[in-house]
Amino acid sequence: MICSSISFCNYRNISLETVSFFPGVNVLWGDNAQGKSNILEGIYFFARGRSFRGARERELIRFGEKQAQLSLTFQKEGAQYPVTLEAELPQTGKKVLRRGGARLSGVRELIGTFRAVLFCPLHLSLVGGGPALRRNFLDIALSQLYPGYLDSLSRYNRILIQRNALIKSGGSTDTAVWEVYAQQLSRLGADIAVRRHTYMQALETHVREIFEGMTKGRETPRLTYQSGAIPEGDTSDQEQIRKEGEARLFSSLTNSIEREMRYGATLYGTHKDDIGIRLNEKEARTYASQGQQRSLALAMKLAEGELARDIGGEYPVFLLDDVLSELDGQRRSFILQALTDRQIIVTSCESAHFGTDTVQMLQVREGKIVGQKKNL
Ligand SMILES: Nc1ncnc2c1ncn2[C@@H]1O[C@H](COP(=O)(O)OP(=O)(O)O)[C@@H](O)[C@H]1O
Ligand SMILES: [Mg+2]
Repeated sequence: MICSSISFCNYRNISLETVSFFPGVNVLWGDNAQGKSNILEGIYFFARGRSFRGARERELIRFGEKQAQLSLTFQKEGAQYPVTLEAELPQTGKKVLRRGGARLSGVRELIGTFRAVLFCPLHLSLVGGGPALRRNFLDIALSQLYPGYLDSLSRYNRILIQRNALIKSGGSTDTAVWEVYAQQLSRLGADIAVRRHTYMQALETHVREIFEGMTKGRETPRLTYQSGAIPEGDTSDQEQIRKEGEARLFSSLTNSIEREMRYGATLYGTHKDDIGIRLNEKEARTYASQGQQRSLALAMKLAEGELARDIGGEYPVFLLDDVLSELDGQRRSFILQALTDRQIIVTSCESAHFGTDTVQMLQVREGKIVGQKKNL
């Protein structure tokens, strides 16, 4: 998948600009606070349907303006024509999304159309940080690959919020109410868990290969999906795991209401799951060095790209926001090498690291592209 261009109108600090990319390495470079990450955020908006910086939509609109517009043109491998996606973000009211000029019903219809893998400094804590970060990693990757996934996830989260509200408000004496919640959460939760579990098994193969290449070492990473719905090491078929997972979750949810009432929230389900990461059979979060944790995190991100190709049929666009400057020379060249022959769009404060590569340098200043040069 190749992102050919993106146009902005009143988006963040960009009043009006079109940025064109070529299929190899594209470097957005310039001083701090010029709009480099804003451009990347705009591109990723179309992959995720929202900002990766957790910003509310209104914050994306240029100060003092009524609405922001962005439009991205990309080309799928082997496709004859490019596709244009558009977004209008108004100050009040709902955003409008379009594909090829036709209005989409919402993010769910958009997601999966244009695929991208994002690396940003936050991802370097993928191994050492909290479980929410790792669940999020899975959710974003899976949403782009399986149209139904985001649907199950949003429904699960909606029902979870309702159940938590019921717990906080003192509960219910009607067992049928709890059973309905347990039924819904366990069915959706088992769907989510099986997808994540299967994804993790496939991801692990790539992570191993990439990590071993990166460290040239004899250390072997092991990644497992840790879930109350799935016993560790389970290799039975998906439908079997799903059925058993559903039963397991249902029983946890109906048997622990008193504990949950004391605790004040739902204690069992996929919102508590995690990815277990070990290096040479030792818990990476506790035992691996900072450098090893970073290498593992990078390997997971690169593996995400590999799986996107295995499952989705072609490489996604790789977006690297400020990560290169965070890495030492060895990891930096590893990652750039690992990504040759793919489209990557990176931000950087300097233009130096890229002197000898085949790259397009785009200089960003005050929300504008002020210089464009290809070293081919
Ligand atoms: N809604 C907005 N309207 C106008 N400017 C904004 C808005 N949101 C952020 N900015 C500006 O964008 C700049 C930061 O851009 P960013 O892309 O993060 O910089 P960098 O080039 O360092 O990656 C800051 O100057 C900030 O004030
Ligand atoms: Mg930035």
